[in-house]
Order: sequence, then structure tokens, then C-alpha cells
Amino acid sequence: MSGEFDIVLGIETSCDETAAAVLKGGRELLSNVIASQVDIHAEFGGVVPEIASRKHVETIDFVVKEALRQAGVSFDNVDGLAVTQGPGLVGSLVVGLSYAKACAIAASKPITGVNHVQAHLMASFLEPESSPGFPFVGLVVSGGHTSLYRVDDFFHVELLGATRDDAAGEAFDKVAKILGLPYPGGPVISRLAEAGRSDAFSFPRARLPETPLDFSFSGLKTAVLQTVQKIRRSRKKLIVEDICASFQEAVIDVLVTKTIEAAKRNDVRWVVAAGGVAANKRLRRRLAQECQRESLHFVVPSPVFCTDNAAMIAFTGYHQLKEGMVLRPEADVYSRIAT
Ligand code: KG4
Ligand code: ZN
Repeated sequence: MSGEFDIVLGIETSCDETAAAVLKGGRELLSNVIASQVDIHAEFGGVVPEIASRKHVETIDFVVKEALRQAGVSFDNVDGLAVTQGPGLVGSLVVGLSYAKACAIAASKPITGVNHVQAHLMASFLEPESSPGFPFVGLVVSGGHTSLYRVDDFFHVELLGATRDDAAGEAFDKVAKILGLPYPGGPVISRLAEAGRSDAFSFPRARLPETPLDFSFSGLKTAVLQTVQKIRRSRKKLIVEDICASFQEAVIDVLVTKTIEAAKRNDVRWVVAAGGVAANKRLRRRLAQECQRESLHFVVPSPVFCTDNAAMIAFTGYHQLKEGMVLRPEADVYSRIAT
């Protein structure tokens, strides 16, 4: 039992996953339901915001009820709600926020609004046996974000660096499109890369010496495009696996180097990776190796907690509710929120 907020219901609708989770006592995950729209968006080669919002409307009630059913609790048992308030697609966020506010207001239950990026960082606490210690440096790598943070506790999160153009996941998705591979690109590129040579092509790594903790992936994406076009024009055989492996290695080199640099500059002993791209096996292995070499502790959540989920929203929301951080009835959603 954990004070007034024993049972927290988390709701996430920031992009194309409708998700709900039930957390008990701030630690025990009773359910974690995720309805993905990926098959619907795949035919368009990316998320179509208007379709995403409509799908959330159709799905959200079922997903929440299923999360309560799997947790073995009724809505009456819920002590507080946590909902993603941003950043994300505004139309998608509005569905989750409106649904959660309606439930909370109708039943006079407290509700808190959660920053999606902050929640990705806190996903590292969902598996208590491998939780990080504070302070840590957190790398958030997803379809919409590539940023480094210094995290001192659940509420103090400082941005150290961010991408100037594409996010890492976006680069995976765009390179997949160039190669005629399906959306989302990350999982398929990482699978093909296993059979390719990572030194077959020397793609650029943007170091950005003036702001060394910032990222840039647009030059890399253009280099891949030009290489592929050149091979196609020459009618030589395009070894897709080699492109995938060389591209992936270039992304990972930059992510790993800058994350280690951030840990050193901030003199912290813990490193955390989060977000959809952190599901990438090679990135997980390289970060683990480099952290070990530098005597840093490394934590990365299981892949299901790297990609979008409501468990991370419930967990972050639980800590906010305990601090009395509740939403006002007129609360709105935000496509961008500074962390
Ligand atoms: O965190 P997430 O589920 O949603 C956002 O908040 O964006 O991340 C989705 C992104 C997509 O760009 C997808 O291609 C990428 O994560 N991704 C991966 C892998 N699995 C998902 N990228 C590289 N390797 C993977 N295994
Ligand atoms: Zn996300």
C-alpha cells in the first residue's frame, strides 16, 4: 500500500499507440495494454495524424477497460489518473486528455498530466531489479526525439543536447523509405543489418564540436540517399544489408560517443537509454560495452518499455500525484513541451 495513490491508471495517446496501464503502489505493474496502429500507417509510409486521432477515438475506451480487466480492478478502485499531455501529435493527445479528464471529473478522482519524454526516461524504473540511481544521464531516442538529459530526481530533468534536425528514429524511417523497406524502418533495418557489413560504406558522423552534445542526422540521411542513387544509376548490385549495417553503425557511433561524453562532463555514474530506438539490439550492446569500459552503470528498459507505453506514464504520474501535481479542468495538450 502506498498512501493515497495505491492504484494509478495511466493513459498514453501521443502518437500512434493507444495505451493504458495500471500500476499498484508505485512499483507493481498490474497491466500494460498497447493497441498499435502501425499496420494502418504502414501503407502511408509514416504516421498520418488525422487517422491516428480517429483511431484513438475508436480504441481508447476498449484499451482502458481491458487494462482494468487485466489488472483485476474496477474503475472505482483507481486512486488517481495519469495522462500524457505532450509532446506529441495534438489531435492524438486531445483524445487521451479529454477521455482521462472526463473519467476523472465524473468520478471526482485526481488526475495529473505527464510529459511524454520525461516518462520515457522514467521507464527505466519499471523493472525494479534493474533501476538506475540518481543522478543519471538519459538518452531519449525515438521517432520524434533525440536528446540527452541530466536527471537528478523524478522532477529535475535538465536538457543537455538535442537534435538540430531529424530524430534518430526518423532517420531510420527515412532510410527505410529510400531502400523501399516498410514502415517503421528501425526494426527492419536492424534485422537486415545483422547480415550486412558495417564497414562497407563510410557514412558521415556529425560531431558538432561547438555544441558537442547536440545531434544532426540529416547529412547522414542525404549521404545514404546519394550512395543508393549512385549504385542504382551504375546498375551495380545494391546490397541492402550493407547499407543498413553501415547506416546503423553511423547512427550508433554518434549516439554512444555523445552519451558517454555527457556522462563524463556531468560527472555521473549512471547512464540510461530510452525511447523506441533504444529497442535496437546493436545500440543496447554498444552502450553496455562502452559504459563498462568507462566504469559507468548502464540501464536500458526491456524493449516493450522503450517504445510508447502507458506504464511509464502511470509511473511518472504516480510520483507527480504524490507531490500534489494535479491538472486543472481547463488543462490543454501541447505538441512541444520543454523538459
Ligand atoms: O518511442 P517510439 O515508440 O515512438 C515515438 O515516441 O516516436 O519510437 C518509434 C521509433 C520509430 O522511428 C522506429 O523506427 C524506431 O523507434 N525503432 C527502432 C527500433 N524499433 C523501433 N529504431 C532502431 N532499431 C529498432 N530496433
Ligand atoms: Zn515516445
